Amino acid sequence: MLKTVILIGGPSKGTRFRPLSLDLPKPLFPIAGFPMIYHHIEATSKLPNMKEILLVGSYQSSKHFSYFIASMQQQFKIVVRYLQEFETLGTAGGLFHFRDQILNGNPDAIFVMNADVCGEFPLKEMLDFHKTCSPDGRQFTILATEATRQQSLNYGCIVENEKHQVLHYVEKPHTFVSTLISCGIYLFSTAIFEHISVTFKEMNEEISFDIEDSCRVNCSVIRLEQDIFSKRLPQTGKFFVYQTNNFWSQVKSASATIYANRHYLAIYSRTHPERLAPPNKMGPLIIGDVFIDPGAFVHPTAVLGPNVTVSKGANVGPGARVRESIILEGAVLKDHCCILYSIIGWKSVVGEWARIEGTPMDPNPNKPFAKLDSWDLFQEDGRLHPSITVIGSNVHIPAEVVVLNSIVLPDKDLDRSFKNQIIL
Ligand code: GDD
Ligand code: GTP
Repeated sequence: MLKTVILIGGPSKGTRFRPLSLDLPKPLFPIAGFPMIYHHIEATSKLPNMKEILLVGSYQSSKHFSYFIASMQQQFKIVVRYLQEFETLGTAGGLFHFRDQILNGNPDAIFVMNADVCGEFPLKEMLDFHKTCSPDGRQFTILATEATRQQSLNYGCIVENEKHQVLHYVEKPHTFVSTLISCGIYLFSTAIFEHISVTFKEMNEEISFDIEDSCRVNCSVIRLEQDIFSKRLPQTGKFFVYQTNNFWSQVKSASATIYANRHYLAIYSRTHPERLAPPNKMGPLIIGDVFIDPGAFVHPTAVLGPNVTVSKGANVGPGARVRESIILEGAVLKDHCCILYSIIGWKSVVGEWARIEGTPMDPNPNKPFAKLDSWDLFQEDGRLHPSITVIGSNVHIPAEVVVLNSIVLPDKDLDRSFKNQIIL
């Protein structure tokens, strides 16, 4: 029997994702028509013998989560539960805290997935590989992919031998270690809890020594990457790498959602063509891959695509042009407005002939294995990095204005055009 744990983090995480994470927890942000972690649940629930999916994080349980969980259980006919950390416990601390619930039923192995990654997850292949790695069933497998030398410094870096055993693991190294990076997806035997438990005990002993002069340290925080992968697993000889060349990307920033949206739509054209809007002589002109929620309205004279998602309750007016963008629930695009490389927030209204435009941040296609860069918002000179335009929720954009490379916080009423600004 198998289980999956999705590490969804908490409200203090996902800061680069603001203002989109102000209205909705980041793991529930829709990409290609479905919440970010819907794609994880869909992939993992397909595995034979997958019995339970546990979401572990420190978000307050809310109606967003309850509704999402209920609909996942109904759709995928699998138990999905949310386990809330009382405070941020780190990527291994959360697993350790809920070990009884995770181990309940005696799973043979547990998939652990970071919520903020997207891709065509090769879970079945990873499982087959994992089974062949060690006869005693006490092994650990990490999914990895290739990155450029420079970009590898932003990820967990892995050095392997010819048998795909991990020799070294360094989390976000300062100098180059390896171009083989962790995808944030793991398959563990239950022996992982022995390693986390030893680490937990060691950390508590160290802390009790310097407790007198201590500024209170949270001794429950354990990080999978630094505390377990770097320090413990390579010595076991049972830590293995499964490498994939499938599409994979982190989702840290709003730009990354546009990039992920495009790739998920491309995956649909192979796996779920029925999810993509078909060409329709009577309807809007559809160019390339476009997802239109059945509960959205798109005027027959609008032109959409490539790589556009229109969510439930959105209304796209006559002559509107949308390309490489995500239109969130309830947004209204009035006549002849033009939306390029942008995210239009929940219930925002874009006036007639307005133009909302961002700058794509795609990886350099000439660099093999290049990933999307996840810049800080500002450049060194203090100016905003040109990036996609993000319109927060409930924003009103008047007719005939231009909003270029900007971020507009929720509930704003713009009265003019803006370029390269954060509108607070
Ligand atoms: N439950 C829980 N509790 N989840 C957490 C916590 C925590 O205290 N801290 C982080 N997470 C979740 C995040 O929501 C995210 O899904 C995942 O754990 C990892 O987040 P970060 O700690 O921010 O790490 P990162 O994304 O910069 O890097 C990780 O992912 C890379 C791949 O995208 C590392 O695992 C890297 O090694 C890896 O290459
Ligand atoms: P490239 O293919 O990258 O050279 O771009 P493009 O020539 O297609 O133009 P751009 O990316 O600027 O615009 C994408 C689409 O939006 C084009 O089909 C344009 O016709 C359309 N478009 C551009 N500006 C406007 C506008 O202000 N209003 C409307 N309704 N459509 C526009």
